[in-house]
Amino acid sequence: MMNMMKFEEIKRSALKAVESVSDTEKLEELRIKYLGRKGELTHILRGLKDLAIEEKRKVGPLVQKLKKEIEERIENKKRVLNTQYSLLNTSSLDITKPGKKIKTGHLHPLTIIQNQMREIFSSLNFSVVEGPEVETEYYNFDALNIPPDHPARDMWDTFWLRQDEIKNKKSKIKKDDKLSAESGKAKSSKLLLRTHTSPVQIRYMEKHEPPVQIIVPGRVFRYEATDASHEINFYQLEGLMVGSDISLANFKFIVEHFFKKFLGPDIDFRFRPSYFPFTEPSLEVDIKCKGKWLEVMGAGMVHPNVFRAVKYDPGKVQGFAFGVGIDRLAMIKYSIPDIRLFYSGDLRFIEQF
Ligand code: DAH
Repeated sequence: MMNMMKFEEIKRSALKAVESVSDTEKLEELRIKYLGRKGELTHILRGLKDLAIEEKRKVGPLVQKLKKEIEERIENKKRVLNTQYSLLNTSSLDITKPGKKIKTGHLHPLTIIQNQMREIFSSLNFSVVEGPEVETEYYNFDALNIPPDHPARDMWDTFWLRQDEIKNKKSKIKKDDKLSAESGKAKSSKLLLRTHTSPVQIRYMEKHEPPVQIIVPGRVFRYEATDASHEINFYQLEGLMVGSDISLANFKFIVEHFFKKFLGPDIDFRFRPSYFPFTEPSLEVDIKCKGKWLEVMGAGMVHPNVFRAVKYDPGKVQGFAFGVGIDRLAMIKYSIPDIRLFYSGDLRFIEQF
């Protein structure tokens, strides 16, 4: 009689052993242990011939089935182990190699600087406002007290948009025309790439009642030859603070606070009289950098004509405005010698930040 307990025991241990084996040599050992010439299962198979015919019929197929099952499982396992082995050995995967760092991107230096500026002004209660880069002549010039034939227009070299491109923006122009009909003044809707962020002063004041306390960061464009300190596009940050009694003293405090926070408490700066059509009086702010005075900001008290353009009463409100070059400040803060580096896409430059 066949020992069924023994048979079950072999079945359980053989299947379990094949399941948990982890290399091909051990697998071969297992094969020999169970199915080899002197293997445990082979032994049972051999013993079948001595069994009574009745029993042989009953257990014979069971033993054969187990033999087949163990063979199959060993073959499967061999395939699994071999693929693992070949994966580990292909030249493309060396598990002993140190891991490769996945490169993550980072902010562009101009964005870093702009974020710092936004933060300082936000802490002074300024709201951040943005405006369109494609602007109308009215907002970029006329409303800022720069009429078409005024020589001050020469201060800004301008990219004008062609008429057929303007047609595509028709819906926008219509809106501006409606506005002009309401104000009873002819508003030029000729399109251009804005030369400064100042038009957003107008756009904001048209829609909001005073008091106003905003900054406007954004990209601006100039049609001019490039060199180490000039680009055809760059970034500005505009500031505007309007109320019943906002004065140049407030401006001085804010600007001093800004530059000390931005460049450190020991920074040297000076105010110098200047001219801008949209401010009266106008001034410029210089900061001392490596013994040289650098012009960084234009500013002044908002011109009464600018208030008239947005229907504020210049007899009732007053305030200051300023415009500062973000690129220029980034160049000073990081000692960058050429503005064109910001736009070159050269990773050797970009990856230093
Ligand atoms: N928009 C001027 C420019 O791009 C800069 C400027 C000067 C802005 C004086 C102002 C200001 O708001 O008051 O040259």
